[in-house]
Amino acid sequence: MRARGSTGQTHPRNALSLTNVGYFASLTWFNPDLHRLDNQTLIPFFAEDTPTTIQELSISGKEHVITARMNADPTYPRMFAEAFPGASADVIHIARALAAFQTTLISFQSPFDLGTMSEPAKRGQALFNSETTGCFHCHGGRDFNLDDEAGRLWFQNVGLYNVAGRGDYPDVSVHGPAAARATQGLSLVTEKKEDRGKFRTPSLRNVAVTGPYMHDGSVATLVDVIEIFNQGGRDIRAGAFSGDGRQNPNKDHRVRSLALTREQKADLLEFLKSLTDECFLNEPHFSDPAAPPPKRPAYCR
Ligand code: HEC
Repeated sequence: MRARGSTGQTHPRNALSLTNVGYFASLTWFNPDLHRLDNQTLIPFFAEDTPTTIQELSISGKEHVITARMNADPTYPRMFAEAFPGASADVIHIARALAAFQTTLISFQSPFDLGTMSEPAKRGQALFNSETTGCFHCHGGRDFNLDDEAGRLWFQNVGLYNVAGRGDYPDVSVHGPAAARATQGLSLVTEKKEDRGKFRTPSLRNVAVTGPYMHDGSVATLVDVIEIFNQGGRDIRAGAFSGDGRQNPNKDHRVRSLALTREQKADLLEFLKSLTDECFLNEPHFSDPAAPPPKRPAYCR
């Protein structure tokens, strides 16, 4: 689901998964300069409805309301004093606490991690890591987003759009000015034409439960995602966004027609499903503290 702001405005982009986010070199769909979770947290706190941004929590001028709520809570003040001795419960420290929580969202108990993948999933893994598909070129590494310790960043155009054959991603006439800027990707930061439509390679951990897909949530299922990569991009034949994404001038050359068989596509899907970590999804520490604790499978550590 695309995220909604505090007033119900729908965000133009799909909320990114937080699985293993503490390990990531960059944190958003297109900003290569955001490396710290506490800094990132402040963006949705303050984002307002302007011609170039969308309203998220929009707390400017109401910071005192948030801190008053915190201080009136029966448990937070004590926990806060333990976590940040001598600090007051201000917005900066609330952001730091949220960032610290996010670094605990660690998932390493999927069938892929535990070596309990099905035979089709194993075949899918071999395909994923082969030149037949080339998936691994972009979705390499421990979290399938090619992040590495050198902190290099990865943004690519995978040919989802080519509005009016101009290489554009969806524009102003349809979503309004905020979305027009928001959908162009890395070029928003670099202001380079060739960076239009480049978005961060997302991690694929738990991807089977995080639909819809892509930066704008415009792809409903994993079957559809696999078909788009199989076709070497997305050809949109009708409507405001029509254009052949396969011919987008900024498209990465590794996204190309693959001509996969039905079995190969099914195997790839099984591999993606083997990245679902039931221990992580049912971890009591990440669940609603007021609800009954979820049941974790017996094999979980
Ligand atoms: C050139 C680099 C590249 C290659 C090759 C590539 N991907 Fe991706 N993948 C990306 C990028 C970048 C996105 C996000 C694009 C966007 O939202 O505009 C993405 C999105 C996805 C998503 C959606 C994830 C989500 O949470 O929205 C899945 C699933 C996926 N890729 C699987 C694959 C598979 C399977 C292959 C091989 C058949 C593959 N990718 C090949 C770069 C690549």
